[in-house]
Amino acid sequence: MTRHFLRDDDISSVEQAEILDLALELKRDRFAVKPLAGPQTVAVIFDKSSTRTRVSFAVGIADLGGSPLIISTANSQLGGKETASDTARVLERQVAAIVWRTYGQAGLEEMALGTTVPVVNALSDDFHPCQLLADLLTIREHRGDLSGQTIVFLGDGACNMGQSYLLAGATAGMHVRIASPVGYTPSETVMADAAVIAQRTGGSVELFTDPLAAVAGADVVVTDTWVSMGKEEEKAIRLGDLGRYRVDAAMMALAKPDAHFMHCLPADRGYEVDADVIDGAQSIIWDEAENRLHAQKALLVWLLAQNNA
Ligand code: CP
Ligand code: NVA
Repeated sequence: MTRHFLRDDDISSVEQAEILDLALELKRDRFAVKPLAGPQTVAVIFDKSSTRTRVSFAVGIADLGGSPLIISTANSQLGGKETASDTARVLERQVAAIVWRTYGQAGLEEMALGTTVPVVNALSDDFHPCQLLADLLTIREHRGDLSGQTIVFLGDGACNMGQSYLLAGATAGMHVRIASPVGYTPSETVMADAAVIAQRTGGSVELFTDPLAAVAGADVVVTDTWVSMGKEEEKAIRLGDLGRYRVDAAMMALAKPDAHFMHCLPADRGYEVDADVIDGAQSIIWDEAENRLHAQKALLVWLLAQNNA
């Protein structure tokens, strides 16, 4: 069975730790391994805009000796005349892996079922698991062992980042708190899946409506845009609904004195986070953005090794 990475819980706690260890090694010695030498090609497909994901996969695949093929769906047959499954069968004869940023999770599952090469979720409406590998790597670098740390995600808990924090954080044995208003809570299924994982790892998952209660004593405070890609038409209503969840200096003061602030970017300063927080001393957003490169390279090396074993 081909291993894919479509959601954060497609890997076990041990596997997650292995990938993060490898990411740290590759960060220390960027060109240490070349599993894509040849060069073999990796297809990186975008249905939505991207800066970090596009650059980090392109650079990372090249670092691993491979050749990135960046495809914009708008200029391809995928999503128009051709299904994900047929696209997968065409690509697998020519590429070593498929990385895809898309809308529905179902498309990724269809792509994965249709192919023998690993498929990686580069963000869907439901999850952003590559970002979480980078975030966990960053927390480990700044705060040490992930297990037992309390992380609070404020804002749109139903978005990809909120849901990925639940699954990946629980897998790492962290205490994950999501603070969202009614109508912006994570799916009940994801919450239940995360609770089962947390029970196994000694972590926990908890929903709050009160942002101040959620942030009390936190190690890491995280937020994300209030208007995710695909939600632009709801912008006015979202800005109104989520206003109470903005991360400002007063909110950060309730977390641990040495707490860190994180944001996957792009950010809307003055909406989900104030400039003095995101650009302040507690913010580790630039390390977080850099770590996309190291974490995704480790993921690719690990997936290719699993599937060649
Ligand atoms: N954080 C993130 O995925 O950024 P991009 O949308 O720029 O890829
Ligand atoms: N939740 C955001 C993440 C962007 C990287 C979005 O989906 O637009």
